[in-house]
Formats: sequence, structure tokens, C-alpha cells
Amino acid sequence: MDVSTETDKSIIVAIDGFSGCGKSTLAKDLAVALAYIHIDSGSLYRAITLYFIRQSVDISQKDSVAKALSFIDLHLTLIDGISAPILNGVNVSNEIKSPAVAQLVSEVAAIEEVRNFLIDKQRNFGKNKAVIMDGRDIGTVIFPEAELKLFITADMKVRVKRRLQELQDKGIDISSVEVGNNLEKRDRIDSTRKVSPLKKADDAIVLDTSGLSREQQLEKAIQYVEDVVNGKT
Ligand code: C5P
Repeated sequence: MDVSTETDKSIIVAIDGFSGCGKSTLAKDLAVALAYIHIDSGSLYRAITLYFIRQSVDISQKDSVAKALSFIDLHLTLIDGISAPILNGVNVSNEIKSPAVAQLVSEVAAIEEVRNFLIDKQRNFGKNKAVIMDGRDIGTVIFPEAELKLFITADMKVRVKRRLQELQDKGIDISSVEVGNNLEKRDRIDSTRKVSPLKKADDAIVLDTSGLSREQQLEKAIQYVEDVVNGKT
């Protein structure tokens, strides 16, 4: 389709939803199809969590968190078309997927100072439009003006199966019970935190991906983009 070549038709697509619903996969596929950039905002929270774990930062202490953040240089760079988090000069794409990071990330993401640290970094990516960003608060807080907002859901069983496969593909040894517990824990913390809780934006379209193949999800998302670009929604 032609939305990428005409700058005035480029849009911001915000994709939010619970953990393990396939947001990043869909965002990545859509970015390739439209020749947009894809920003996985969760990778930023994960990179900060990795730093806190490595430096044994006491996340219950505001001062310790603020001091640790002042030592963090974090940005995203495109490597083979995929955005990779660069933490103090090192690509940490693989390390941020570890179970230890997954275990702590939602607690770190609930800290106001951490969220404030990341707001402008995320908004900067929207300046030239043609961006697809996935996360938890993209349609509600980061880009409330996004032309298209998708809220992704899927059955828990499907989510566990997909996430288990993804981790096993990365050589991580983990059980489906552990994966399920982690997804449930993160959903609970993400939805109930005080700052920028995960919730559907009023104008978001709900997309249940449980029974959809990767290709079918992409097809639907492309249709939504076309509708926006052609002024149908
Ligand atoms: O998307 P992913 O599962 O990698 O995100 C990891 C965690 O980062 C989420 O469980 C959530 O706690 C946090 N997050 C967030 N806001 C975002 C993206 C991620 O709070 N926009």
C-alpha cells in the first residue's frame, strides 16, 4: 500500500494491550508492510530493569532510583530494521528477555520517575509520524493523538503458548506455569498502578487475536490503517 511514500498520509499507530498478546509481533509485521518504524516501548522499561538488577538498585527507595537513572544512557537504534535498546553503549536486546527481567519489570515500570524518564524518548519517535509503537500506555498517554489505536487481547491459554514458544526459541528454559504466572502478575501490576495504568483508550479498536494467525492479524491491521488513511474512520 501507498501510505509510506506520501508523508502527509503517514500516521502514528498505537498498539496497547496485556502481556503476551502478540503486540510486538503485529507491530513489527505492520511496520515492515508499511515501511514504518517499529518502537517496542517495553524494551525501554526492560533495559532500565536490567540496569537496576545489575547495579542492585533498591527500587523501594526514590533516591536510589533517581540516582541510578542519572547514570543511564538509553536509546533505541535500528539494526536490520528492528529497534534495539542500547544501554550505556551496549545492545541489550537478548539480555532484556531474561526471566529475571520479566519478573521485576512491572514493578520498575510502576515507578513515576522511571515513566517520566522515558516519556520524551518515546514521543520523539512520533515527530515524523510513520511510526508504530507498542506498549501499555501509548494510546492513552504517549500518543493520545495517534490516528489509529489498537487494543490487543487474546485468551490466556493462547498467550502462554505463544510466549513459551518465543522464550524456548531463544533457548530459555522455562515452564508454562512460570510463564502463565508471570503474565498474570504483570497484567495485574500494569492495570492497577497509579501512574499511566494499562487501559483501553476510549477511541481504540479492540482486536482479539486468539483465533487469528499472524497473517490474519496483519491483514486486519492493514485494513484499519487503510481505513484511517482513506478517511473512512
Ligand atoms: O511489552 P513488554 O512485555 O516487553 O513490556 C514489559 C513491561 O514493561 C510490561 O509488563 C509493563 O510493566 C512495562 N511497560 C509499560 N508501559 C509500556 C510498555 C511496557 O509499563 N508502554
